Amino acid sequence: MQWSENVNIKMADTILILGACGQIGTELTQSLREIHGNENVIASDIRYGDDEFVKEGPFEIIDATDREKILEVIQKYNISQVYLMAAMLSATAEKYPQKAWELNMNSLLIILELAREKHIKTVYWPSSIAVFGPSSPKVNTPQDTIMNPKTVYGMSKLAGEHWCNYYHDKYGVDVRSLRYPGIISWKTKPGGGTTDYAVDIYFKAIEEGKYECFLDENTMLPMMYMNDAIKATIKIMEADSKDIQIRTSYNLGAISFTPEEITNEIKKHLPDFEISYKPDFRQDIANSWPQIIDDSKARQDWNWSHDFDLASMTEEMLKNIQSKIISA
Ligand code: SER
Repeated sequence: MQWSENVNIKMADTILILGACGQIGTELTQSLREIHGNENVIASDIRYGDDEFVKEGPFEIIDATDREKILEVIQKYNISQVYLMAAMLSATAEKYPQKAWELNMNSLLIILELAREKHIKTVYWPSSIAVFGPSSPKVNTPQDTIMNPKTVYGMSKLAGEHWCNYYHDKYGVDVRSLRYPGIISWKTKPGGGTTDYAVDIYFKAIEEGKYECFLDENTMLPMMYMNDAIKATIKIMEADSKDIQIRTSYNLGAISFTPEEITNEIKKHLPDFEISYKPDFRQDIANSWPQIIDDSKARQDWNWSHDFDLASMTEEMLKNIQSKIISA
């Protein structure tokens, strides 16, 4: 089936998630299945995730750079929306720059083309705070400002944002995007990012009572609890198309903290927790990123607001990791 402007029967959305077994993909799949029903949300990844997840609803093995396979699955399930969550994150991308560029760019261009050809109606594609660079203002980083990313990941996200905007302006593709900060979650760990320390620290605090941090104690970065990230993602996708005024990608903010501040918060619950610092190559990446994001456009255009601060997130993280370990 092809989607066209004059389809006037309101059809339920059938959703394909590429990269469904990743940190955000896992929880996004679960939330979208609660909203749309298990059978209307097709999870896919390059490999199987855990068994439960695969059994909950349809699952397909898809390499996000394989156009033929993606189109086959789109046609098999009459997909109307695609969430393209597959990507190589900042730290891993520095080790494999060519591969990162190929995965991050080719997958996006394939999906945008499929939308232009009207095989799908709406596209969600995440961008990142990594689009900013050392010359961007660090505090209250504006939506539009100097952008000189220093990482391959940031370069791919900035180029991707402009491709999204181009396909929207030139071909009317309904593509929506958010610049995620570091996302903190307990269900699935992130892999290969610079903000990953803020997840690892909670696990190590519970499992070992100590943590060696790869960023120094004063490195402030923008962060967000997973529940808020999922809320924002679903909210921008449910918003009226006319309210989405930015078609590159929206700044999205919630909280900002340093390794020292998160440590102090953890110590309120686990007073014996010990931290040490051993910055590595990821310190340079973090130093090139903003500290606090100005997300007022998202708040104005489609009523974005976050729920979790550092204290409430820490409570949730520690509680959930503890019960996860007990039930394992
Ligand atoms: N969390 C990502 C990373 O650290 C940033 O978008 O690479």
